[in-house]
Amino acid sequence: MKRKALKFTSFKNEDQARKYSYKTAKQLERISKSFVSVIKSMGISSGRVLDIGTGSGTLAIGLCKEFPDINVIGIDISDLILPFARENAEKSNLTSRITFVEGNAENMPFEDKTFDLVVSSNTLHLIDNPVKMFNEINRVLKNGGKFFISDFRRNFFCLISGHIRASYTSKEIKKVLEDSKLGNWMVKDYFFWISILSP
Ligand SMILES: C[S@@+](CC[C@H](N)C(=O)[O-])C[C@H]1O[C@@H](n2cnc3c(N)ncnc32)[C@H](O)[C@@H]1O
Repeated sequence: MKRKALKFTSFKNEDQARKYSYKTAKQLERISKSFVSVIKSMGISSGRVLDIGTGSGTLAIGLCKEFPDINVIGIDISDLILPFARENAEKSNLTSRITFVEGNAENMPFEDKTFDLVVSSNTLHLIDNPVKMFNEINRVLKNGGKFFISDFRRNFFCLISGHIRASYTSKEIKKVLEDSKLGNWMVKDYFFWISILSP
């Protein structure tokens, strides 16, 4: 089935943002565990990390707990979800190591070559122009910096989920990556997930 972009790419109101924050807090361990093992295999354990589409900060918080020598900036386009992200970081005593910033992944408010690692979970399918996002990742990464982006993969569950219908197949995402300035990527394809990462 053909890809169909979602009408709402972010939260409609505060109540929806609160419910999302509550739900993802419970998934914290599962989401961050899968990222932790990949990041360890990349040899990264310190430095500046950017989490794109940070939402309620689940991944940013999970990574800070696992890697005591990293600092994370979480960026999100929604000013409705960021207060919950800040609250969650506060509950975990991590406010000194995590900063949440409102902004668009397609045009990020960061200097060139700022980050050692860029991560993103469940957000790629919501980005209007993913080529721009990958160009931005290329711009803000330090030389030799790494990235790990994970999102849904479109499959027959797109019949029941608009999020899955808005997500990409590996063939489509490889074309997007080829059109971008980001180099040296690998795409890993699973039934439910796609991962885009540095070798
Ligand atoms: C499904 S949530 C995922 C949140 C979190 N990464 C997680 O895994 O729980 C997607 C997030 O991406 C944000 N988002 C959507 N479009 C964006 C954009 N262009 N730039 C930055 N964030 C965006 C939404 O506001 C939302 O918080």
